[in-house]
Amino acid sequence: MSRSAHPAGPRHADVLPESRQSTGPDADLGRLDPAIWPATAQRVGGVLALGGRSVLDLVADHQTPALFLDEADMRQRAAGFVEAFAGADVFYAGKAFLCSAVARWLEQDGLGLDVCTGGELAVALRAGFPPARIAMHGNNKSVSELTRAVDAGVGRIVVDSFAEIDRLSAIAAAAGVRQPVLVRVTVGVEAHTHEFIATAHEDQKFGFSLAGGAAMDAATAIAALPSLELVGLHSHIGSQIFDMSGFGVAAERVVGLLGRIRDELGLELAEIDLGGGLGIAYVAGDAPQAPKDIAGALRAIVERECAALGLRAPRLSVEPGRAIVGPSAITVYEVGTIKAVELGGGAQRAFVSVDGGMSDNIRTALYDASYTCVLANRDSTAPPMLSRVVGKHCESGDIVVRDVWLPSDLTPGDLLAVAATGAYCHSMASNYNHVPRPPVVGVRDGISTVLVRRETEDDLLRLDMGLTEMSVRT
Ligand code: LLP
Repeated sequence: MSRSAHPAGPRHADVLPESRQSTGPDADLGRLDPAIWPATAQRVGGVLALGGRSVLDLVADHQTPALFLDEADMRQRAAGFVEAFAGADVFYAGKAFLCSAVARWLEQDGLGLDVCTGGELAVALRAGFPPARIAMHGNNKSVSELTRAVDAGVGRIVVDSFAEIDRLSAIAAAAGVRQPVLVRVTVGVEAHTHEFIATAHEDQKFGFSLAGGAAMDAATAIAALPSLELVGLHSHIGSQIFDMSGFGVAAERVVGLLGRIRDELGLELAEIDLGGGLGIAYVAGDAPQAPKDIAGALRAIVERECAALGLRAPRLSVEPGRAIVGPSAITVYEVGTIKAVELGGGAQRAFVSVDGGMSDNIRTALYDASYTCVLANRDSTAPPMLSRVVGKHCESGDIVVRDVWLPSDLTPGDLLAVAATGAYCHSMASNYNHVPRPPVVGVRDGISTVLVRRETEDDLLRLDMGLTEMSVRT
């Protein structure tokens, strides 16, 4: 059977993810590596605490499984990007995790918001996020999504196809507005974690090809349309990236197109958006770059390339999602069963089943993503056991943490906390096996606030028309 999953961590396309050796156990199995855990995570009397509250109290109030989001940590990361990118714009990528509370924090903290569907746009607008600070993405935005965005006054629409250019220009003309747009450019760079590939790799659904000429054609088409205002170019090269050289190549190529647009269309575009994709530490050894280093490197490349072409340096923007919210949340599960399985040669693996799984974190199954976790409700000096944390779904690929050393006195009823689940866990959650999605609870200064409540059985059954009085036949 061929493997077709798209690993968001390791490089993909023509190679399989590199195999991982499980590392030996840490001397202290309960240690909270500050590179991985939220800023306020600490042990108090052996018990994990977050935002000034013990997980025992949090679980008493909110049950398991639950995501607990360290508000101070997330907002500090957001502010760190704003500061590092001073003079540029930071659009938080809502696909990582979005709810009205997060939208309001971002608004207060001076960020913009990247949305990629009508649903994300609806959250932003209902939360009162200023439309002018929203950028709308998507490779197949519908007429109603585009109409809503134009009517709301969304600041930037990143156009992705010729069909969309036609649709959007008609919608903007009908609304009597001149809609600012960016052209999404496929720069022929693909980056993941430690590597990037700067040749071909245009064989994907997003954007207009730079090498194939479509990006220039799109700019030319837009420039001729009175209802659209071409303000800049956009590039997004991948996700969970540690190696900055991919961004450098992308920036060079985008600036090259700015030069062509000036030469051929007589337009000096004012903006470049280099997208998101900055990596975070999920496990020991992951070494992400600091926002200020990233900002400095990107600025230097854009300025150098612009100077070489005699262009005014455009305003820069970026769209970090994972790097802002990823490290800020943890997921707390309760252990239900522990099963020892012989691996041969005397080795054993403990399958530790928890009360959630692939419905609240699909990333391990989907991308072979790595996570780590600790015993959260107490400390332990028991010897380590090689463990795999698995969920309760009816599927053997339902793995939350593939390899982790846990104390061998682990017992049903113990709590496990998984680190770095803030990005793409709740936002990609499902109701597989009719399991309700967990809540997201904000924690700050000793106070917990439900941001997104837990789904109930009634929520799950609400769409089942066979259980309502209002069955509709047509
Ligand atoms: N901007 C654009 C246009 C994007 O497509 C994305 C992510 C971002 C920004 C934010 O990227 P970030 O900084 O969060 O890496 N579900 C996957 C990741 C897919 C990301 C898709 N686009 C995962 O769980 O790893």
